[in-house]
Amino acid sequence: MFKEDFSTIIRKIRILSGVILFAYVIMHLSNHSLNIFSIELADNVRENYFAVIWQHPVGLVLLYSSLFAHLILGFSSVLTRKSFKMSFKDWVQIIFPILALLFLAQHIAASFIITKVFGGSETYSLIFAAISSSETSKMIMDAIFYSLMIIFIWTHGVIGLDAYLKQQAVHHGKYSFYISYPSIFKFIYWIVPTGAVFGWIFGLREMSFIAQIKSYEIATTVPMYFQSIFMKHIPMEAFPVVMAIEPIVRKYYPLFVLFVVVVCVLNVVRARFFGRIIVSYPGGESVSVPKGTSVLEASRIGKIPHQSICGGRGRCTTCRIKVLSHEGEIPKPNFHEIKAIERVGLDDNVRLACQLKPTNSITVLPLLNPENQLETARSARALTGKEQETVILFVDLRDFTKLSEKKLPYDVVYILNKYYAVCGEIIEKNGGRLDKFIGDGIMAIFDASDFSSENCSNAVNSASEISKNMKTLNSEMRVDFSEEMRFGMGIHAGSTIVGLMGYGKTVTETAVGDNVNIASRLEELTKTYKCELVISKYVADKANINKENYDLKAVDIRGRKEKLEVVTIEDASDLSLALV
Ligand code: FES
Repeated sequence: MFKEDFSTIIRKIRILSGVILFAYVIMHLSNHSLNIFSIELADNVRENYFAVIWQHPVGLVLLYSSLFAHLILGFSSVLTRKSFKMSFKDWVQIIFPILALLFLAQHIAASFIITKVFGGSETYSLIFAAISSSETSKMIMDAIFYSLMIIFIWTHGVIGLDAYLKQQAVHHGKYSFYISYPSIFKFIYWIVPTGAVFGWIFGLREMSFIAQIKSYEIATTVPMYFQSIFMKHIPMEAFPVVMAIEPIVRKYYPLFVLFVVVVCVLNVVRARFFGRIIVSYPGGESVSVPKGTSVLEASRIGKIPHQSICGGRGRCTTCRIKVLSHEGEIPKPNFHEIKAIERVGLDDNVRLACQLKPTNSITVLPLLNPENQLETARSARALTGKEQETVILFVDLRDFTKLSEKKLPYDVVYILNKYYAVCGEIIEKNGGRLDKFIGDGIMAIFDASDFSSENCSNAVNSASEISKNMKTLNSEMRVDFSEEMRFGMGIHAGSTIVGLMGYGKTVTETAVGDNVNIASRLEELTKTYKCELVISKYVADKANINKENYDLKAVDIRGRKEKLEVVTIEDASDLSLALV
């Protein structure tokens, strides 16, 4: 069992804490928007639903630990930056939360002190009374700043979540609903903060109206009415502490931000001018880079040709280098490297250039030839391949060798071509492409749609139609040749590398990778289970197959440590009936 490297764990904590905070914010802002209807309704929902989740000890621990972790990791990523070269979105991701924290810190501290330290209660009436009791200019400024806080925090969360979900959907086939229904998410992204800001405006308006009415009803002044709300919710002894929060935060938070900016600038300057190392190559080239730069990045900076099929994500071994010499220690292999070393069996002094970040000068030899000899391949994607989710269908005839031994070669060609035509037409009609014919076997890939569920359904439909049409073909075969063809099919989906492969004029686009091998093994399993089709559960789920009608099994797959859950289907011709 591999231990994940530190950076992967940190990334996961950052994502998880971000998701928890986003869940909190979406509920919190939705609660704000209920003030559009009435403060009483918003307070009711807050007390009876929102507080039940987030004031529960488990909710509280999750919330505060996520906030703490997200802040620490966010600031440490700013402090350890080596360059200011960032996209516009990256700048927004850094600047917006830093600005929002000026008000958020006061908001969180006041709420925590009132409710957790002094046992008071925080309600919308209290918040609107606190804002409304200020002078008009301060009230307007507070309303503007709190609205900006909502917008900044929300934008930060949306950019982070959008990038994460898109990456998961495109590269790992997860959360495909996100790219399937973009307009729903766009609607949520706009409606939640808009509703919250309007909730504030309506809440403040209602509070000023209520204060006027109450001042007549109970013969008091508006400030006195606000005072009565404060007294009701905030214990006397909490007042001086709460009042001290704003000046303290406004005085010290800017100093803290200044400190962060100075340290960040110093770190960028240090990385730019000091603490550099030299990465040298046998051809005499050398590149000066800041410590912590990967060897692959150094090659790119120095324009040294360096193969890197997976784009530096530790998913291949094509960037491998031999370490010829180095000063001092070099960092130990991380999770991705250990995985690659164990799988491919690399020597100790062979490392992955995209993962090795030397802290001292080093001389390396890139091991794979970066000059690609495939003249017929024209685009960068074609030359290197692209990682993508692919659905793979294998079809194979049973005992065809025996059958062909009994037939004349021309008859065999005729039979095979009939079978190829049946499968080929169905596969193409369902948006698949015939990848290769291997004797009496066929491999087809389904990647026409951006949505893996659609590709999975296409593959399953193809298998079902092949089964039906093979029955018709077999009835002809029985008449013409006194024989019939038996066959098995396997379908699996997962990440593969798709690109042009071959030599000279024999170059085709194909998919390679573990998942292709697994699909082939599933097809072989049809012999063991005496059925027509074996589908991985992943595909069955994506294609919405009603699994109740079929056998679900956990099977061993050669070359794979964990068992794989599969669905076995004796007769695939009635499979379409099971699509729910
Ligand atoms: S580029 Fe693929 S592992 Fe380094």
